[in-house]
Amino acid sequence: MSSATFAVLGLFSDAHKIVDAANQIRPRKLGRLEAYTPYPVHGLDRAIGLQPSRLGRLVMLMGVMGAGLALLFEGWVSAVDYPLVTGGKALFSWQAFVPVVFEVTVLFATFTAGLAMLFAFNKLPFFGHPVLHSKAIKDITRDKLALSIEATSAGFDAEAARQALLDSGAESVEVVPVPSWDRPLSLVGFLRTVAAIVAACVVAGAGLYAAEKLIPVVPPLIHMHDQPKLNAFRESSFFADGRGMRPAVAGTVARGHLPPAFATPEEAGILLSNPLPLTQAIAERGRRVFNDHCAICHGTVGNGVPLLSRAYGGKPGNFLSNEIRARPDGHYFGVLMLGKNAMPGYAADLDEDDRWAAVHYIRILQRAQNAKDEDLP
Ligand code: HEC
Repeated sequence: MSSATFAVLGLFSDAHKIVDAANQIRPRKLGRLEAYTPYPVHGLDRAIGLQPSRLGRLVMLMGVMGAGLALLFEGWVSAVDYPLVTGGKALFSWQAFVPVVFEVTVLFATFTAGLAMLFAFNKLPFFGHPVLHSKAIKDITRDKLALSIEATSAGFDAEAARQALLDSGAESVEVVPVPSWDRPLSLVGFLRTVAAIVAACVVAGAGLYAAEKLIPVVPPLIHMHDQPKLNAFRESSFFADGRGMRPAVAGTVARGHLPPAFATPEEAGILLSNPLPLTQAIAERGRRVFNDHCAICHGTVGNGVPLLSRAYGGKPGNFLSNEIRARPDGHYFGVLMLGKNAMPGYAADLDEDDRWAAVHYIRILQRAQNAKDEDLP
């Protein structure tokens, strides 16, 4: 034989026979056994000594890694780098991380499965397989089953392999040479492949665009998004002022949001006093409001040290300072309604009772840090 041998193929037409043949030949260790069949043959994988794929374990490993990384990242972001209380929940609320953790797990697992299968196990970019160039391949893809003994070492004995296949009942035997293109893809071939993929994407994209834009304008295939309707943020020729969204009727007041009767926090401090009695329930409510909305900037004890990273440059008021402690309740309420410099107004987010409850809670924080003798039981 002139060129090197890739494998010796034996053809069978009976699934039982090929399994028996594989069982006979395997112990003789003539070379690596491989089988090509037009349909799955039970027991053949064991007969040729095929190990379970390592892909599953790899995918598992990368999936777990993805989950771990996502959990670490979310935990770090939400509990360490930018601790933000959301809806009164703990900073490290793993339940909230589940969707992202799940997605990243799937992402890592699927990419590992696809890329490892193509590049690690199927050895891309190495297209084709020597057996595809054999004469037998036409029969194999129709109704014949092939057992191949691949040359794994230099001392491969093609004649012994041929004989072994014939002895174990092969109907015919073919020697498959190592093909001349047995090398990784050339640069030109690689570029050609990339160009073909890009061309396919362009054609598919343009085709989809054409299908979406051109074909369905033929009645009755009108798209639902083309129906005549009013888009709140779009222009509209329907109304005289050309706006889709209608302005509120003059004098409209949002329910529960009466405009304040004061213009500055100082004025509020003179006009208003806390209407809520300080009960256990109100104190609890104040704490909830404070921890959800205020602690992030003013600190959980109200000392004006933000929980935010140093990127936040504002200087929130220190509720424990003598200056702010001396201000009346109405002043705090006024700041909550109107905001003050870098402090946002909470008129839209909190209702009246929430605001007064928060004011009570600020007083509680102040008293906790400045307890007097009378506070002792
Ligand atoms: C985004 C950060 C931020 C949040 C959230 C925030 N504040 Fe402030 N707050 C500030 C800053 C900054 C100041 C200082 C404003 C100034 O004096 O320039 C301030 C000042 C104050 C003052 C003192 C005003 C004064 O007269 O000196 C009060 C009272 C106050 N905040 C209450 C609250 C309450 C109650 C909440 C929660 C509902 C809250 N703040 C949420 C940033 C914040």
